[in-house]
Parts: sequence; C-alpha cells; structure tokens
Amino acid sequence: MNNALHIGDCLDILHTLPDGCAHLIYLDPPFNTNSRQIGRVRGKPNEAGLAYDDAFGSPAGYIAYMRPRVEAMRRVLARNGSLFFHCDWRMSHHVRLMLDSVFGDQEMGDGDQRSRVKRRAVFVNEIIWRYGLGASRTRRWLLTKHDVIFWYANGPDYTFNLIREAPTPAMLAKYCHTDEQGNRYMISYGRRYYLRGGKPLDDVWDIPAIAPTSRERVGYPTQKPLALLKRIIALASNAGDLVLDPFCGSGTTLVAAQALGRQWIGIDANLKAIALARARLAAGA
Ligand SMILES: C[S@@+](CC[C@H](N)C(=O)[O-])C[C@H]1O[C@@H](n2cnc3c(N)ncnc32)[C@H](O)[C@@H]1O
Repeated sequence: MNNALHIGDCLDILHTLPDGCAHLIYLDPPFNTNSRQIGRVRGKPNEAGLAYDDAFGSPAGYIAYMRPRVEAMRRVLARNGSLFFHCDWRMSHHVRLMLDSVFGDQEMGDGDQRSRVKRRAVFVNEIIWRYGLGASRTRRWLLTKHDVIFWYANGPDYTFNLIREAPTPAMLAKYCHTDEQGNRYMISYGRRYYLRGGKPLDDVWDIPAIAPTSRERVGYPTQKPLALLKRIIALASNAGDLVLDPFCGSGTTLVAAQALGRQWIGIDANLKAIALARARLAAGA
C-alpha cells in the first residue's frame, strides 16, 4: 500500500484505503478560482499542456464537492494524525466551517491555560503562508500575498514536533560562550544556560513562492514550494509515517515526504500530473 501513486477521483481511491492508515494528510485542491489553471514556464504557457479545471460555481457548490472527500480523508486519518487543508481568501471562510463540522467540536482535556478562548482538540492552527512573489500592481485593493492552511488534528494526542527559528544576532550575542561540543551557552549567577534555538515557529510563514526561473519549477500550475511541504511534514509526522496527498498535482508533497524518510501516497485525477510526480520522485526533486 505504501509509496503509491493513484490516478482518479480521490473520493473513489480513498474508499479503497484502510481506516486510520495515514498520519498526515495535506490537500491543496482547486481553490474555486472559476478558471482553467494552466502551467507556465518562464511566464509562458507550458507546452506539455499541463492544466486542470478549477470552477465549482458557488461556494455552496465547492463545499458540496469537498465535504464528502474530506469525510473520506478523516476516516483514513490515524488517531494521532493531522490534516492540512490549503486554500485562499476565496473559500477559506467556508472551508473552516466545513472542517469544524466534519471534525466535530471536542474541547482539549485541560484547555490552554494561557488563552481565554479554549482551544479545540481538533482545530490546531490557521497558518498564513505569505509567498511574496506575484503581481506587483494594483489600483483598488491591497495586493493579495498569502494563502491559508488549516491544521486539524484527529484528536488531542496528535504528533507535534516543535520547530524553532534560527537564533537572532541578539540571542547569539547573549549566549556568547561555547562548550567543548560547540554548544552555545550563557552564564548567569554562576550557572550555565544553553541556547536551545530561536523562538518557536509561529503561524505566519514567510516562504517565497517558486520564482518563474527557479530550477524547482516543473511547469505544473499552482506548484507549491518544497520548503513549505517539508516544514508541514516535519511539524506533524515522524520518520516512517505515511503522508497522503489526495490532490497531489506534480507531487511536491510526496517528494518532500520521501526526502524526510516518510512513506507516501499520492492521488490525482490528471494523468499528466501523475506522470510528472512519478518523474520527480525518481529524480528526488
Ligand atoms: C492545486 S493543484 C495541486 C498542486 C500540487 N500541490 C503541486 O505542488 O503540484 C490541484 C490538483 O487537484 C487535482 N484534482 C482536482 N480534482 C480532483 C479529484 N477529485 N481527485 C483527485 N485530484 C483532483 C488537479 O488535477 C490538480 O492537479
């Protein structure tokens, strides 16, 4: 079952997978842009004709399409697993309500003592991915430079690997001593305090989108950066876990999972996407 690519509607393929098999599900489905998404290389439409349709009509039509697929995903999610739903300003408010309803509304056992609003066991974070690149001209509204990624867990004991940012120059200056192993520390009242890294990662991520001339670009429309997927996988899964992407496109999630020692399953309705994902996995990039 593990390390497999499937062609077809993810609703049908998900029904063939066993309960609780996936530790992490990341989905980057069509965003309801009401258009045909066409891949580009150096600004020009891709000659290989890599494209997919992204038109569901109303928000209600989009949610009616997504809901049964997300329900099928929840069935295959492991007890300690997480689901990441990637969307943007067009549908994010509808998606959030749908996810609340599919995942239920259990409260965390002991609550979050520092928060006045109790955190739900199943809703973990709303991640803002600020991608920077793209349009630089606007007249009547602010430039749109972020996507939204909702993180839901299947229960309170979900996998969470704390990631810390790089220490700032000020922290490095404070922890100015180095021991025999090369670890930095500071001394206060005669005691050593070791530097554990920078501040814990927050929910606004600055990761550049793939530049038009980047070697990472494979010409698939809406291809996501490997750095984004590696971060999600490192946060919410461990080596050997199974990562599932039911709308895998060019296979970015699977390439990232393979690089981090996870198992993977990819599904896409587009034959050309699956062929591209297979080539990327063979090349490891
Ligand atoms: C936004 S793209 C994914 C891009 C991908 N994250 C990447 O980095 O290349 C969405 C994908 O969903 C696929 N798709 C649309 N409806 C689908 C369905 N019902 N089942 C499986 N795949 C579907 C499209 O063919 C498209 O490749």
